[in-house]
Amino acid sequence: MTSRPAKDSGGPNQSEASNWSDHPIPTRVDVESSIPRLVFATRNRGKVAELRQLLRDLRIEVFSLHDLEALGANVSDVVEDGDTFLANATKKARQVSRETGLPALADDSGLEVDALGGGPGVHSARYAGTGASDADNNTRLLHALRDVPDNRRSARFRSSLVLADPTGPMGDELMTAEGVCECRILDRPRGSGGFGYDPLFYVPELGATFAELGIGTKNHRSHRARAMAALKPRLVGYFHLAKTARSG
Ligand code: IMP
Repeated sequence: MTSRPAKDSGGPNQSEASNWSDHPIPTRVDVESSIPRLVFATRNRGKVAELRQLLRDLRIEVFSLHDLEALGANVSDVVEDGDTFLANATKKARQVSRETGLPALADDSGLEVDALGGGPGVHSARYAGTGASDADNNTRLLHALRDVPDNRRSARFRSSLVLADPTGPMGDELMTAEGVCECRILDRPRGSGGFGYDPLFYVPELGATFAELGIGTKNHRSHRARAMAALKPRLVGYFHLAKTARSG
């Protein structure tokens, strides 16, 4: 695990304020202290944008890891060495919540291609090697499927969402949900939106790849949206409980 050096942003360092649930956020002057806070345990900007939109109707204040780091927090990278999306999401949510003192929501997700025996699966982010770009991963996928005909190019995105808040009312319990979205992998990229494998991820009922859809349409259909639909009512209940516990 690599620790990031503390950034000199003028914000607090870890020894002064490692618990961000208590710390005033210097860039926000209009924040009521009673509004629950949540951190997304990811540095993937595409995921953050989608998760933010999926939770935009909740009265909570949401931070990405980049937001907290810009405010001076020091959050370690999580080694994603689990065999399942759930195992990795659990590890991310627990570690980030422990380090920030905030309830942490993690998404671990990836692409399962039937012709590749379910791969790249949990290795989706680094399919073309450590530090691979989205373009590198897409090129490797196209190469792996170069001889696979159209009718055998079925695949799906799978997302595991996990909420952890070990210092809150839920203690060591976790809140989890899973979502799946089926597709066919194209033989060339289409569209310029989204991230990751979106340009190759063709949804027959929509007649489009995820990269050809706006974030709003993707967020009606995606694996992440489906997992969030299952999690959200429990998330709302939990934030209500946490708020009551704090003010009671
Ligand atoms: P994680 O950070 O280990 O969960 O990495 C997930 C990887 O799966 C991403 O880097 C993408 O390559 C891929 N992935 C997950 N969700 C999506 C999506 O919604 N669109 C495109 N690619 C995705």
